[in-house]
Amino acid sequence: NGRSYSFAKKCVASQEQIFEKIDAIAANIAIDYAGKATAENPLILICVLKGAYLFTADLARALADKGVPNVVEFMCVSSYGKYTVSSGEVRMLLDLRNSISKRHCLIVEDILDSARTLDFLYKVFMTRGPASLRTCVLLDKPEGRKLPFVAHYRCFEIANEFVVGYGLDYAEMYRDLRDIVVLKPEVYSPKTASEMHKVPDSKL
Ligand code: PRP
Ligand code: MN
Ligand code: MG
Repeated sequence: NGRSYSFAKKCVASQEQIFEKIDAIAANIAIDYAGKATAENPLILICVLKGAYLFTADLARALADKGVPNVVEFMCVSSYGKYTVSSGEVRMLLDLRNSISKRHCLIVEDILDSARTLDFLYKVFMTRGPASLRTCVLLDKPEGRKLPFVAHYRCFEIANEFVVGYGLDYAEMYRDLRDIVVLKPEVYSPKTASEMHKVPDSKL
């Protein structure tokens, strides 16, 4: 199941499993947006940087395969920084280039955890008058919720473990893996309890 990595404890989803799920979810999206997403009025995929960059790229192509015209817009927010625990504050670092007024929009996220990020983005985009607004997440970690939030499309449900790969990072590392994995505990090299979630100095 997936490639082997010296720093990984286990594989949560291999590239092959990810592609299979994306294909299936794209088929569902194609049914739901039939007649709504057209060449004249393509579906706007809102890619939430950085984590969702690979998922968005693969979802966009899977949707094109299914005949769903789509365009991509980028948004950048951050709440985890270099830690494995959310700071509780979502910072907007980059906003969309174009208006989403009267457009069908799908927010594309790599993971739904505490839901602070998606709750924030959903509220922000709703104020901009889209024709419709839905969310599509690759990973859903229900046990992590701090706010109630249900995604319209979900590829994988995962346990309450910190995962990396396929866009997901730990202190900006591991985004480039083809597979999604759980890191070995020693990779975090905890020193003291208060330092638990900080990055070892050597990695800064
Ligand atoms: C991560 C992840 C999601 C968000 C999910 O982003 O990519 O965007 O956290 O967590 P939540 O449901 O608890 O809000 P992060 O802040 O690490 O930024 P990044 O995408 O640039 O890695
Ligand atoms: Mn993110
Ligand atoms: Mg991150």
